[in-house]
Amino acid sequence: MFSLPNRATIIEVGPRDGLQNEKNQVPTDAKLEFIRLLKTSGVREIELTSFVSPKWVPQMKDAGDIARNAVPFERAIVLTPNSKGVSLARDAGAEAVAVFVGVSDTFNQKNINRSTDESVEALTPVIEQLKEDGIFVRACISTAFYCPYEGKTDIEDVIELCRRFVALGVDELSVADTIGMANPAESFELFSRLRQAFPSVLLTAHFHDTRKMALANILAALQAGVDRFDTSAGGLGGCPFAEGATGNVATEDVVNMFDSLGIETGIDVGKMCEAISAIAPYVSRPIDTGMYRLFEKGTC
Ligand code: HMG
Ligand code: MG
Repeated sequence: MFSLPNRATIIEVGPRDGLQNEKNQVPTDAKLEFIRLLKTSGVREIELTSFVSPKWVPQMKDAGDIARNAVPFERAIVLTPNSKGVSLARDAGAEAVAVFVGVSDTFNQKNINRSTDESVEALTPVIEQLKEDGIFVRACISTAFYCPYEGKTDIEDVIELCRRFVALGVDELSVADTIGMANPAESFELFSRLRQAFPSVLLTAHFHDTRKMALANILAALQAGVDRFDTSAGGLGGCPFAEGATGNVATEDVVNMFDSLGIETGIDVGKMCEAISAIAPYVSRPIDTGMYRLFEKGTC
């Protein structure tokens, strides 16, 4: 039987995942205005930026300015891979931190220059301290379905990696199809297993839309009991170290699908498209999502 929640939460990742792969340096003020307009559209939870090495990801070098000057949200998350990032984030007043590790060793070596075990070991005292200090911690689990270098991911390895983070007391697991290869059966299977294994953490699905299966995967995850989704305004995004990854599923298309299914998100699609049109001049790829096309034609 088709069962759907009445409400779902969108975690807008456009300012972080959406822009991190953008080769033109987007001015800090343009990012801040984008973030402000995202709030106006109804976004309550957001990934603002990432505190990562500026040598690795130059686009995020203004993380401190973004974190300090962004309009407030119910939950404003900043991403960091290590203790240096966490301490910069804390200096900038961050109240919610996301750490990220892939299931695949090869992906982790390329993305964060460490193996999976080395990353979790280095993050262990960092997460313990964050939890002691009352900071919200989200663990982003990359390559949970497929790795661009190692192929299909073993579901037991995903669950084991999540278990290690849950044991450390993280508040949320955001589980990602980094290169957009999952199909709806795989989405349903993994999220059903995760929902069952970790009933008390927030569970979020993060789909990239490389093969245009993200909306179908979201529907499958909803069936598995997930009601939190990372999405990116305009479908921007992609990890610079995951070959073949394209943008995240577009917020406006997910919200439109949810609206039509009677699932409330609190986000206004028209206002979301206004936020996208403010950032569009700064990004080097065309924005070509279903709802944004309608917005440009004046029929959204
Ligand atoms: P490394 O070179 O091994 O690090 O890189 P290091 O500790 O040797 O430091 C190198 C330099 O970076 C030093 O500066 C450090 O101080 C500095 P130098 O002395 O040479 O001037 N540094 C930092 N600066 C600012 N903030 C920091 C930081 N750490 C070190 N946090 C490192 C290791 C992890 C730093 C690097 O690999 C890195 O920054 N990687 C980030 C890659 C990234 O941002 N990927 C995209 C985000 S993940 C993603 O998109 C996936 C997700 O969306 C889910 C999905 O879709 O799968 C979440
Ligand atoms: Mg991503």
